[in-house]
Amino acid sequence: MQKIKVIDFGGQYNQLVARRVRECGVYCEIDSYRTPLEKIKADAPDGIILTGGPSSVYEEGAATCSRELFELGIPVLGLCYGAQLMMHVLGGKVERASEREYGKTECEFDTDSSLFAELPGKSVVWMSHFDYISKMADGFKSAAHTANTPVAAAENVSAGLYAIQFHPEVLHTEYGKEILFNFVRNICGCAGDWEMGSFVERTVAALREKIGDGKVLLALSGGVDSSVAAGLLSRAVGKQLTCVFVDHGLLRKDEGDEVEAVFGEGGDFDLNFIRVNAGERYYEKLSGVTEPERKRKIIGEEFIRVFEEEAKKIGAVDYLAQGTIYPDVVESGLGGESAVIKSHHNVGGLPDFVDFKEIVEPLRDLFKDEVREAGRRLGIPEALVSRQPFPGPGLGIRIIGDITAEKVKIVQEADAIYREEVDNAIADWKASHGGTAPDWKPDQYFAALTNMRSVGVMGDERTYDYAVALRAVKTVDFMTAESAQIPWEVLQKVTSRIVNEVRGVNRVFYDLTGKPPGTIEFE
Ligand code: XMP
Repeated sequence: MQKIKVIDFGGQYNQLVARRVRECGVYCEIDSYRTPLEKIKADAPDGIILTGGPSSVYEEGAATCSRELFELGIPVLGLCYGAQLMMHVLGGKVERASEREYGKTECEFDTDSSLFAELPGKSVVWMSHFDYISKMADGFKSAAHTANTPVAAAENVSAGLYAIQFHPEVLHTEYGKEILFNFVRNICGCAGDWEMGSFVERTVAALREKIGDGKVLLALSGGVDSSVAAGLLSRAVGKQLTCVFVDHGLLRKDEGDEVEAVFGEGGDFDLNFIRVNAGERYYEKLSGVTEPERKRKIIGEEFIRVFEEEAKKIGAVDYLAQGTIYPDVVESGLGGESAVIKSHHNVGGLPDFVDFKEIVEPLRDLFKDEVREAGRRLGIPEALVSRQPFPGPGLGIRIIGDITAEKVKIVQEADAIYREEVDNAIADWKASHGGTAPDWKPDQYFAALTNMRSVGVMGDERTYDYAVALRAVKTVDFMTAESAQIPWEVLQKVTSRIVNEVRGVNRVFYDLTGKPPGTIEFE
């Protein structure tokens, strides 16, 4: 099978590179920069991409690679740090610029270069670097420049080596996809015949082989990720799979019952389904806890406790399955080389004494939209596959500050109103626009409860109630996001319904923050 190897030097966007390669229809794997050259050679990739990274190539102990990597006769593309490293290792020079070049930057391409073939001579790219290539290694020529960076891209065509200072993998780079396409499909010569269906087939087969006749316990939250994981495992091992659905009392309104309808007795899947109603227990543990990381930890630990108890009832269990997806891995700092942003309860939270042989995480390499696509291939109902994501810690991270049953109820009601109105507005739009969705259609939208109370007036009475925040974002990969422009009238209707129908709320805010600097969730 044709494949591209992405060598990870610890940048934030590394998995995005892999994902873009998969979007070109080419199978892709990520290896740490520490992977021995012999292994890379043995895997025989059709192309190699070196990612960005946080260091400077000239620093002591900086992540590096050997000169031989560039002499394998396999095309290599270096991105940002990877580009600088290529030059540094091959005898060029990298220096610190007086100013960091950051953000959208106009770049001029040499369209005779195969990297930029068929592209306009000029377009916007995403730059994020302090260091710059001050001298190219022998045999290279510049293939792109910006006002501040003379070598925004370079190539040594006869050696099959290409270097790009900017980040083609992020959407801010206007022709990023095309540039990566040019590399993997034209320069590396990959046919582009890989697709998600083969991921599903391979994963189901691999799970079947790995699990054998073992028993599997899955943490089913009812969100897209764990549902797709359940679908994969159910296809692989059927009734050997037991899904424990913990209703932690932090789910959206009516969600527990909806999940039970799909996965429980009489549903579409061949598996054992157990629902545990643990709300009270969670509220007790979370009582008075305000620190976000602590809340996440408690919710995560309590999950594990519940599983332990269920596992004991079930008897010996060999595997614990989880619906961890790639962004969870990255942001927990477990994704190879990149830095910790915040911990996700469904990653790495297992204490040593839990009595399972091994963890299975079949979605660990996928982004959200790839998970949905895998779900469709598995025949999971569209309503579930296209459901907006819901975090494992649930409303626990959408209630700022301490959690009480009363606050949960408030946010559930407000959220249900908000989602209902947004869904109606989208449906109305579609009905009058030939079935197409409006541009503002958010990829994730929910209400959160700020811990702020303020003075208001209701009838003749002074009120002192909570403020609800409405969040709606447009995002492709959940690593970056922009606030969605929900029409004013929809927001007004939602606001009016919330303050009228939800007791304890007298004010509604709309969050306009992007990610970065905000995260999508509030904690
Ligand atoms: P953030 O808030 O990190 O969210 O910008 C990015 C995406 O991840 C979801 N999210 C989580 N999912 N466990 C999960 O399974 C978590 O702890 C968690 N925290 C955030 C969030 O809803 C968004 O889709």
